[in-house]
Amino acid sequence: MNRAPLIFLGIFFTVAFSWTGIVLTNHLMYADLQPVFDENEGRAFPQPLPGDALRGKEVYRDLGCMYCHSQQVRHPGFGTDIQRGWGERGSVARDYIHERRVYLGTMRTGPDLRNVGARFAGEGGRNWHIQHFYNPTEVSNVTLSNGRTYGSIMPPYRFLFRTQPIIGEPSPRSVQHLLPAKDQPPVGHEIVLTQRGEDLIAYLLALKDPPLYPEEARRVYVPPAQPDRGEPRPGTAPESTREVLQ
Ligand code: HEC
Repeated sequence: MNRAPLIFLGIFFTVAFSWTGIVLTNHLMYADLQPVFDENEGRAFPQPLPGDALRGKEVYRDLGCMYCHSQQVRHPGFGTDIQRGWGERGSVARDYIHERRVYLGTMRTGPDLRNVGARFAGEGGRNWHIQHFYNPTEVSNVTLSNGRTYGSIMPPYRFLFRTQPIIGEPSPRSVQHLLPAKDQPPVGHEIVLTQRGEDLIAYLLALKDPPLYPEEARRVYVPPAQPDRGEPRPGTAPESTREVLQ
């Protein structure tokens, strides 16, 4: 018996169903999303990234930052992102409409970076990123619930800097005045931030979502029902964990 038509139909419907579910429904839901014009500010949000930040986004991709950092703030009830200070609201689809590639990330070894530009802003923010990339443990430690403090586990990115001899005047890009005594360059040399480093920092400073768009503000996100975990066994769940679970 010739089963070719049956096999063909089977393959056809499998592909058609997946295409409808993965491509078509998303297209119908999100393709028409537009920026929202804010009368008070006189501009539309979200704003596209400026050029140097766009270059920095390529550096972010190139260095694989998204293997440890997400860019998606969970809504209240879905996690504790807002309590942790990672954003003032949950992320919505409209936030990403200017991005051809969205680096949502898969793991959170480090904090969510969707609004890192609000946490580290301006000249002070730039200086912090420089110190952090050169030597993360110098500026960032993690204190666990047992009270012990560990140095940051983020790898240093010293290849974003260059040590060069000072010829004539020191470079306006020299950064060694921000670094501790142990990291100072040899006499007659200076440490400068490379163009890739500048761009990456411009990207981090630009990562900041606008206030919630009126259309989204009317939408209500209902958190999924929490399974009844019962009373924690004595001594197993510290107070802080229980708070997170609620
Ligand atoms: C191996 C995992 C890992 C990788 C890869 C990584 N990070 Fe991190 N990052 C961390 C951890 C852990 C922290 C928290 C401790 C700290 O502040 O250093 C962190 C913290 C940060 C912070 C501070 C965030 C805050 O709110 O305090 C920034 C900014 C940051 N990382 C940027 C980057 C960038 C940009 C890259 C890529 C060049 C990168 N990270 C790659 C693990 C990583």
